[in-house]
Amino acid sequence: MNIVEVKNLKRVYKSKKGIMRRKTIVTEALKGINFDIRKGEIFGLLGPNGAGKTTTIKILTTLLLPSDGEAKVLGYNVDGEEQKIRKQINFIFGGERSLYWRLSAKDNLSYFGDLHKLKRNIKEKRIDELLKLVGLYDRKEEKVETFSKGMKQRLQIARGLMNDPDILFLDEPTIGLDPVAAQNLRNIILKLKEDGKTILLTTHYMQEADDLCDRIAFINNGKIIKIGSPEEIKSNLDDIKILTTNLIEVDENQKNQLANIYQQAKLMKKDRVLHVSIETKHYFSVLKSLQEIFKENQFININTRQKTLEDAYIQILQGDFNG
Ligand SMILES: Nc1ncnc2c1ncn2[C@@H]1O[C@H](COP(=O)(O)OP(=O)(O)O)[C@@H](O)[C@H]1O
Ligand SMILES: [Mg+2]
Repeated sequence: MNIVEVKNLKRVYKSKKGIMRRKTIVTEALKGINFDIRKGEIFGLLGPNGAGKTTTIKILTTLLLPSDGEAKVLGYNVDGEEQKIRKQINFIFGGERSLYWRLSAKDNLSYFGDLHKLKRNIKEKRIDELLKLVGLYDRKEEKVETFSKGMKQRLQIARGLMNDPDILFLDEPTIGLDPVAAQNLRNIILKLKEDGKTILLTTHYMQEADDLCDRIAFINNGKIIKIGSPEEIKSNLDDIKILTTNLIEVDENQKNQLANIYQQAKLMKKDRVLHVSIETKHYFSVLKSLQEIFKENQFININTRQKTLEDAYIQILQGDFNG
């Protein structure tokens, strides 16, 4: 079942510019996007700044109306059935300050529980469950102002779960967190999926998207340019592997020979070391020609790696910018 359905969705912003604010600037933030999210899925929306990710989330969470096209959440139209949607969803925007820093973790959640009109016993039970889920149960009486950034963000997640939503929208949930705090947050997101929640998230961290998402949409300049599972997206890349090697005492002749055979090779010189990176399906033949050009004692190391989602992102986006 599709829990989110987006059809030919468009959004324009009109803003005034100039000293007299006479000029009207029209920004087409979404130029007709299409995608579905299935129940229980973690769906990632990835793309550069200004691509239209936050606009998409704002429309799906009924904070903003579409200019054209259609968006349905849980079968309800975002334009006209806002109230029904709002009861069953929740959202967290990265870097937002919706928590009350002078209140304790528990009192914060209690406040949001009251906003959602939860019955007292249900509210208390849920507060305890959620504080345990996000690893803050032992700190529940402490004021939020004493919390680290990671703890605050985990409390935000608990806040976003107070109404037991079917879908949680997370806009850049790990932005600005240190690696350990970000990992903690990712583990919580995976637990939510196990509990049957559907999640839409945006992120700039490709490894994070690869680790978390069942499916991903790349969005650029208001258009979706690729959609699929991380595996599908990676397997569609031009070449599947990258061979890298570091060489010393490379002379110009050797460098030219290499550049002639592998025109795509990236050569970067750092101090006395030449770093070579070649995209290849044919690892052994590349290795063989490297051996023909260079002497054994010139190789510092040789590595291969599979292409990552980050490689896919860069390749697909460059293709989109170029034509
Ligand atoms: N309130 C607004 N008024 C005018 N333009 C806006 C507004 N919000 C966003 N935009 C523009 O819409 C485009 C998409 O923005 P946004 O959805 O925030 O992108 P992302 O979240 O992917 O960085 C950008 O060009 C941005 O400048
Ligand atoms: Mg954004």
